[in-house]
Amino acid sequence: MTFRLISVLVFVLSVSMLLIQSEGPALVAGFTPEEAVQYGQRMYRQGILPSGRPMQALVQGDIPVDGTMFSCISCHLRSGLGATEGSIISLPVNGAELFQPLARGQEVLKLSPEQQPRQLSSTQLRPAYTEATLARAIRDGVDAGGRSLDRVMPRYKIDDRDMAVLIHYLRHLSSRISPGVDDTTIHFATVITDDVEPALRDAMLLTLQAHVRDRNSQSRHDEERARKGPYYKDDMFMSYRRWSLTVWELQGDPSTWTEQLQEYYRQRPVFALLGGISNQDWRPIHDFCQQQQLPCVLPITPYPVIADDDWYTLYFSKSYDQEAESAARFIRSRSARNQIPPLVQVYRNGPAASRLADSFRQTADRLRLGPVIDVLLPAEQPADAGFWNQLGRGHGGAAVLLWLTAADLGRSASLAEWSRPPAIVIAAGSLLGEKTGAVPAGIRDMTYLTYPHSLPEEARKSLTVLRRWLKVRDVPVTDEVIQSKVYFIGWMLSGVIRHMRRNYYRDHFLDVWDMMNDETYAISVYPRVSFGPGQRYLAKGCYMVQLTKDPEPQLVRRSDWLIH
Ligand code: HEC
Repeated sequence: MTFRLISVLVFVLSVSMLLIQSEGPALVAGFTPEEAVQYGQRMYRQGILPSGRPMQALVQGDIPVDGTMFSCISCHLRSGLGATEGSIISLPVNGAELFQPLARGQEVLKLSPEQQPRQLSSTQLRPAYTEATLARAIRDGVDAGGRSLDRVMPRYKIDDRDMAVLIHYLRHLSSRISPGVDDTTIHFATVITDDVEPALRDAMLLTLQAHVRDRNSQSRHDEERARKGPYYKDDMFMSYRRWSLTVWELQGDPSTWTEQLQEYYRQRPVFALLGGISNQDWRPIHDFCQQQQLPCVLPITPYPVIADDDWYTLYFSKSYDQEAESAARFIRSRSARNQIPPLVQVYRNGPAASRLADSFRQTADRLRLGPVIDVLLPAEQPADAGFWNQLGRGHGGAAVLLWLTAADLGRSASLAEWSRPPAIVIAAGSLLGEKTGAVPAGIRDMTYLTYPHSLPEEARKSLTVLRRWLKVRDVPVTDEVIQSKVYFIGWMLSGVIRHMRRNYYRDHFLDVWDMMNDETYAISVYPRVSFGPGQRYLAKGCYMVQLTKDPEPQLVRRSDWLIH
């Protein structure tokens, strides 16, 4: 009896173990599904096989090239949703599209919904792919319906094992709508930290909220049509969503921000962060977004994270790093070959000046301009005549970088009396703000300011547009720089969302931002902003200006926006 019971138990146990085993994850070419996604992603983004060797591609029919130069991402983009270059359309290759029939008209991604040829939308372009036909498309350029794909699409030499990995990745690529979007609404949030003065906070928030109100009052009409109209099934109406905007206020020490962000996100996942404002380092928010794969579009911060390979945060500019880099390039552009003057930078410890100094040092190093001498002013030491005279004795003839505020610059007149005058003096316009009059008249001839914004005469026209827009919406003008930036965000956002149609994938959202045309019209703060795949800093230039000797000095432009 006991023996029997034991053998029954053993039997039951072994059956259940078998069951457990057979429920384990199916391997993909010997990899776990997660590993296969990782390896497939590397094939797709970098053109590197699981073995670590480059993929082999044939372009223009039969020219063999290294697949790392023709990785799928360069044409089909990060989301797999594809793009249009002139008349060439890289079809979508994401999981949601490949394994169902593709209707003609669907491939015309670039056209706005209004321009879509509706009468064609029922004609099938190709049937759904199977794994076998998909492998054939990638290897031989023949689609699921037997059509030869355009020669722009390379042919790849990929063996069965590696092909299984790539197809596994494509199956997972943009296969499910991202969090933060439901049937009626796209949820956004904006981050505000507690160090921001109320007037600046309002400048950001009220302008952003005005955009959201605008959008939602327009969509009421479209929602009606979506419910009742004859074309209710069309993408155009299916894709309409209201916008909602919640404010994520961050309190206290930045080391606690991540936890606060996580809690906000847990309560209500959003599709993306819009704008936002802080006077402190954006790093914790940047890292949170990177980790959460959450887009963060154009926060207002003097401290962006400089990380060209990060994907999820899009910034207006590199801020202080842009100014320091432009200063270094300007010195190089004015010096004869191999005759760069010695470089001396004067600053006090503090987040902005230290950032300028670090970045200047790095750029000087990268451009091989020679060593940079740091003169760090201790907090208790005034930048008075004695200080400048002593500096002159040691560093006459140098290029002198003054990463100082108006209070210190106001006392720098004796720079003009050096027995060997400086080769050039450069100060950071952003540290002076409006107080350009603080620069002593006697040194204005030798002094240049970095000026990372549009010049007043360039901004005039678009500022008029902005003021009118704010007035109609009852938004008080509290800070034109911030409001101009936020106006731009909303203006671009409606174009981006229209372009996305029903494809609410976060990576596609950012792909579409990257595809936007360069802008001069809707932005007054910068002379132009430019977009491009993976580019994360939109305003890439800075002017060098000089000041007239008037008590209220005028700015005189001394360089192009881009300094080479
Ligand atoms: C140089 C640009 C380019 C690169 C690189 C590229 N493709 Fe394509 N691909 C295209 C174009 C363009 C088409 C559409 C051709 C046509 O419609 O005739 C296409 C079509 C496809 C299709 C057919 C889609 C359909 O609906 O029939 C698949 C699948 C595909 N590509 C997968 C890939 C994969 C996987 C990679 C990387 C291993 C890749 N492509 C790399 C340009 C590219």
